[in-house]
Amino acid sequence: MSPRSLVLLAPLLLFAACATEPDPVEPPDIVEPDTVETPVGIADGISADEAVAVLNPTEGNTTSGRVTFTAVEGGVRVVAEMRGLGEGPHGLHIHETGDCSAPDGSSAGGHFAPDGSPHGAPNDPAGQRHAGDLGNIEGDDDGAGRYERIDTVLQMSGPASIIGRGVIVHAGQDDYTSQPTGDAGNRIACGVIVAADES
Ligand code: CU
Ligand code: ZN
Repeated sequence: MSPRSLVLLAPLLLFAACATEPDPVEPPDIVEPDTVETPVGIADGISADEAVAVLNPTEGNTTSGRVTFTAVEGGVRVVAEMRGLGEGPHGLHIHETGDCSAPDGSSAGGHFAPDGSPHGAPNDPAGQRHAGDLGNIEGDDDGAGRYERIDTVLQMSGPASIIGRGVIVHAGQDDYTSQPTGDAGNRIACGVIVAADES
């Protein structure tokens, strides 16, 4: 047998030897969770490209729905879909604490304002509005409302991340000027922003 044919044969012999061995046990795949629960009050620095808040009615109210936050080019797309809202404009804000345990929603604290800015309108630039000032969501005559805009102030990562914060819908309209909350009235629905992915 020539040295060349030995070389060609070697992989075959190796294969035959291996074929009699039991298959090696593969290590289990690491399964990534679909959602990451954000502990209440430990929000700082948690990041995500997509997050959602499910809003439930506060005591004595019937408003519920969902707000999604998606990182996009130039900002964060915010989409809110609510029902049981009542006709007309209702203040919609991110509040500083992701805690809806109080019957009146007061546990969510004040407007999320990591830079200490005054209350303002959603189209005001950073420094002239709270990060959490999303403005108003308009209820139609069936009490349903949809809100969509791309916000350029909200952050989904870093120390000013909105992950783990609260979302509040109010009984009345945010007037964009009254301090510190826009005089939007009672809190009729509350939810906590949780990451919908990992990044
Ligand atoms: Cu509010
Ligand atoms: Zn505000």
